[in-house]
Amino acid sequence: MTQVERQYVKAAQATAPHVVVLFGAAGDLAKRKLLPGMANLVLSSLAPDIEIVGTSLEELDDDSYRAQAKAALDEFDRRHLSDSEWDDFASKLHYVPSSAGPDALARAVHEAEERLGPDAHRIHYLSVPPKAALAAVDTIAAARLVEGSRIIMEKPFGTDLASAVELNRRLHKTFTEDQIFRIDHFLGKEPAQNILAIRFGNGLFEPIWNRNFIQQIQIDVPETLGIEQRAAFYESTGAYRDMVVTHLFQILAFVAMEAPTALEPQAISEEKNKVFRSMTPIDPDNVVRGQYVGYKDIPGVSPESETETFVALKCFIDNWRWAGVPFYLRTGKKMAEGQRIISIAFKEPPRSMFPSGSGVGAKGPDHLTFDLADASKMSLSFYGKRPGPGMRLDKISMQFSMQEQANAGDVLEAYERLILDAMRGDHTLFTTAEGIERLWEVSQPLLDDPPPVRPYAVGSWGPNAIHQLIAPYAWRLPFERVWRESHH
Ligand code: BG6
Repeated sequence: MTQVERQYVKAAQATAPHVVVLFGAAGDLAKRKLLPGMANLVLSSLAPDIEIVGTSLEELDDDSYRAQAKAALDEFDRRHLSDSEWDDFASKLHYVPSSAGPDALARAVHEAEERLGPDAHRIHYLSVPPKAALAAVDTIAAARLVEGSRIIMEKPFGTDLASAVELNRRLHKTFTEDQIFRIDHFLGKEPAQNILAIRFGNGLFEPIWNRNFIQQIQIDVPETLGIEQRAAFYESTGAYRDMVVTHLFQILAFVAMEAPTALEPQAISEEKNKVFRSMTPIDPDNVVRGQYVGYKDIPGVSPESETETFVALKCFIDNWRWAGVPFYLRTGKKMAEGQRIISIAFKEPPRSMFPSGSGVGAKGPDHLTFDLADASKMSLSFYGKRPGPGMRLDKISMQFSMQEQANAGDVLEAYERLILDAMRGDHTLFTTAEGIERLWEVSQPLLDDPPPVRPYAVGSWGPNAIHQLIAPYAWRLPFERVWRESHH
């Protein structure tokens, strides 16, 4: 069998029965993503045989946990479960409060395994803040639930290089690296994987994918949402640790990496880690930190808080493909729009033949844009002639949306995709200890000497300093034109 055939066979196989031990079962992520995601995996028959044993500090029992889960699904599930579908899913939910101790947890897990039969596998999902991660690992060890199990870890993995190294060291005392799945849900997004498909599945893009043809790259993820109920987590995290060192750098690696020898975990990790090794340390002078006006009034936020809710930075990958090409990254809360785009700006030609006032170049360089939103769009924007007499140019675009594809309905939500991959033992879309440690290493100059936070207005694009940061270029957002809506 060829590698490709093996992949197909693997994808077609039903997933083995699994007990999912969910730490942080009453938390925000569990409610928003994990419970709805697992319900969908059950309903879609991709992972029909699962039992979930939830645990957290909250004093709940099976019934009250089911009620909480029901409320979460009603609010966050993208399809609406029928009564019988809910009953089926509810019967798979169990709860053990952490106060009951490791033995009670072990009992609940073994009972669930017995219900699933002799093929049952076990996966732990640590949906807990970094400081609680090791305590959860210790509980798993004390409950003797390590052997033969897998563990999914949520970011952030540590808060700096030293804590990440320590976390990995202690984690490796209990779990081997191939048991560990470090999740970064941006890599589970369909459009993120489409970056690899587009880059490596076509002849058109790869020859121009380098410093000779590309002027600058932007990875821009403004959000309109605020901190909501997460003040305690966010105060000690901030936008850089929450989004950049994790999601934005992982996406950057997909954009910048060399072609891997195979679409397999080791080959992909090797290429991503080479990108991270080539990154130059983040220079605090190339970073703008911002905090939206009103953040300090949120309950749980210190009136003197220096936590950034916004960050924009310029970084470089010092290798043969990218030397000298700036990468601009930006993300923040309570901004003007919610977008997740990657924009590749091509070098501008001389254009000396166009008459003055023709409009060529007036709207910035020609661009290729990937939109990581669920509709997964791509556009190529370039100058073309405005119909009519003379030679006036307008910026026009070709746009593609995944919604136009016949299989658009098959798309899995990022967490569904990644939980399924972890159950199948596929590490391809997960991050590695080596890569994460290197990212903390390049971040250290910024963490040691962060520039002051500057205020920005709610509903803006960040503090004014973002324009100096990117000069002589300009931010691609806000777009000069809206995406065309597809009529399918
Ligand atoms: C999470 C961050 O990892 O990603 C959040 O902790 C952020 O602060 C979220 O809002 C964004 O994810 P998505 O999938 O909504 O773009």
